Amino acid sequence: MHVAGARPNFPKAAPVIRALDRHGVRQRLVHTGQHYDERMSEVFFRQLGLPEPDVNLGVGSGSHARQTADIMTGLEDLMTADRPELVVVYGDVNSALAAALVGAKLEIPVAHVEAGLRSFDRSMPEEVNRVIVDRVSDVLFATSPDAAVHLGNEGISADRIHLVGNPMIDTLLGNLDRFDIAGIRAALTLPARYVVATLHRPANVDDPAGAIDLVKAMHSVADEIPVILPLHPRGRRHLENAGLLSHRALRVVEPLGYIEFVSLVRGAVAVVTDSGGVQEETTMLGVPCLTLRPNTERPITITHGTNRLVTPQALAEALSSVLAVGRPATWCTPPLWDGRAGERIAEIIAGVLR
Ligand code: UD1
Ligand code: UDP
Repeated sequence: MHVAGARPNFPKAAPVIRALDRHGVRQRLVHTGQHYDERMSEVFFRQLGLPEPDVNLGVGSGSHARQTADIMTGLEDLMTADRPELVVVYGDVNSALAAALVGAKLEIPVAHVEAGLRSFDRSMPEEVNRVIVDRVSDVLFATSPDAAVHLGNEGISADRIHLVGNPMIDTLLGNLDRFDIAGIRAALTLPARYVVATLHRPANVDDPAGAIDLVKAMHSVADEIPVILPLHPRGRRHLENAGLLSHRALRVVEPLGYIEFVSLVRGAVAVVTDSGGVQEETTMLGVPCLTLRPNTERPITITHGTNRLVTPQALAEALSSVLAVGRPATWCTPPLWDGRAGERIAEIIAGVLR
């Protein structure tokens, strides 16, 4: 039983489900309904060839406790009735936390895809989720060597840790020929040189005072180069109240479908973001990434990739240096980010189920 529910889950689950199909494993996909807008959910199913969810719990938005509890209640009934042999959870979202807890309490083995990432910042809700999900999981799939090391340091035995690469990157590599830079530029009437931005971390967008700093920083980028910002629904009101829409070179659009979004990223001079997945995608595509966060659970995107952490105050200067240097001519990609993570995960899962 796969449990997914939020936007970043879908590009991670798609290659795992496909590879398990090839192994002839019987699968059920439960959508928790954590994300529910067409642009935050359905579009990924359409574009990535995910099967229709067998069940949608339809929990919707709410406080952390309410959302997690609603998912847990729905999953407890399903897992009690179904008794799956394995529950597979993805990433660090509340849907993963809820599913891992329910599986563990029902003594159903839990596999965590994207285990071991650590920002070591417990003020980030996802860090709490990561630590707890890993603690109760039986099979841990790490996307990078540092993640595997963290799990070992936390006392998890080596036979449960599998360094498999990154299934989100499988999705990226598998769709390379669908990313149409000219097409997306024409559709959005963008010039040849532009910056893409995404913003949704609570630490950035939930506090009205912080939102003012962030908007100032985004405007300082737009002073230099046109910015396109497909804006996550979280924080939209705070950012708009802080004057986000008042710069003529900064365009805010609705969240984009995966193919459109990654096409946009691929053609960009640089990306400004606070997303986890986008740090990885830019690393893979060799697009400079400025991450508006004090830390990252994905340090490999800095050591190997194109990522750099910046404060809102330092963003304009960081962007100027990126614009001066341009895209790197060559860059490293992290080990095993080769498009075969889903297959490695499926092989291990098929072995567990035998
Ligand atoms: C969640 C994840 C975060 C991830 C992000 C990816 C947790 C704790 N957080 O954050 O790790 O980076 O998804 O996108 O799981 N909303 C809509 N439509 C939707 C979904 C949400 O309008 O389809 C709005 C609602 O006002 C909601 C708010 O966005 O209250 C936040 O949604 P929620 O799922 O609680 O958290 P995210 O910020 O999306
Ligand atoms: N993404 C998308 N459309 C957008 C913004 C992001 O398809 O408008 C994709 C992005 O390419 C990546 C995933 O959503 O695959 C990342 O999700 P998000 O940033 O919401 O969550 P995080 O990775 O921060 O948890």
